[in-house]
Amino acid sequence: MSQNLTIKKRILIFGASGMLGQRCTKFFSMLPDCEVAGAAPDETIKFPRVEYLFNDFTNRESVKGIIKDFCPDVIINAAAFTNVDLSETERQLAWQINVSGVEYIAEAARAIDARVIHISTDYVFDGKNGPYRESDKPQPVNYYGRTKLAAENALRISGAVYSILRTNVLYGIIPNGRLDFVRWVVETVRAGKPIKIVTDQLNNPTFIDDLVSGINLVIENNKT
Ligand SMILES: NC(=O)c1ccc[n+]([C@@H]2O[C@H](COP(=O)([O-])OP(=O)(O)OC[C@H]3O[C@@H](n4cnc5c(N)ncnc54)[C@H](OP(=O)(O)O)[C@@H]3O)[C@@H](O)[C@H]2O)c1
Repeated sequence: MSQNLTIKKRILIFGASGMLGQRCTKFFSMLPDCEVAGAAPDETIKFPRVEYLFNDFTNRESVKGIIKDFCPDVIINAAAFTNVDLSETERQLAWQINVSGVEYIAEAARAIDARVIHISTDYVFDGKNGPYRESDKPQPVNYYGRTKLAAENALRISGAVYSILRTNVLYGIIPNGRLDFVRWVVETVRAGKPIKIVTDQLNNPTFIDDLVSGINLVIENNKT
C-alpha cells in the first residue's frame, strides 16, 4: 500500500507580532504545505496552527537557539526597531535589533542552510533622486536608515542564502499592533485632533498583503 507523504516547508517568522509579521504568519499558516513558527518578544497575538517562540534580539543565544531548534527551510525577518525618530536617541538598541539581530539570524541560517528573506526599507536612500532602482547607491540620512543598510550589508557578507526586499509605508488591515499610516490619519481626524505631517515627501505606500504575496513568490521561485 502506498502512502502520500507531504514534506512541509518549515517557515520561521521573526517579528511575528508586528504589522507585517502578523500578516505573514497568518498567510503562511493557512498554506497546507507550510509549518509555521512565529518568534517575537510579545506572544499575545496568536493564530491557530502556529508555534510561538519567545525571542529577544538582544540575546544572541536566544536567536540562534530558536533557529537551531525549529530548523526552518525559510526564515522571514519582519522584526525591527521601526521607530525612526527614536532610533536617533536609542542608537544602541536600534543597532542591536536591526543589525546584530540580523547577524545572529544569518549565522544560524548558514549553519543549517536555511534561506533568509529580510525586509528592508526605502530609508537606505537619501530621497534626493527617487524613485530608486535596487542597483542605485544607498545613502541613508538618518540612524534608522544606517542600521537597515548595515543589516543588508551584514547579510550580504554572511555567506547565508538571502533575499532582501525593500518596502515602504506599509498599510493594511492589522487587527492588533501599531497603527499604519492610513489608520493613523483616519483615527486622528475622526477624533478631531490636528495632524502634523510632512508636505515634501512623495511615497509609494505598499499594501501589506501585496508584500506578503511578493514574499511568497520570492520563496516559491527561489529568488535571491
Ligand atoms: N511599517 C512600514 O511602513 C515600513 C516601511 C518600510 C520598511 N519596513 C520594514 O518592514 C519590516 C516590518 O515592519 P513593521 O512595520 O511590520 O514593524 P513593527 O510593526 O514595528 O513590528 C516589528 C516587530 O519586531 C519586533 N521586535 C522589536 N524589538 C524586538 C526585540 N528586541 N527582539 C525581538 N523582536 C523585536 C516587534 O515585537 P513587539 O511587537 O513585541 O515589540 C515586532 O514583532 C521592518 O524590517 C521594517 O524596517 C516597514
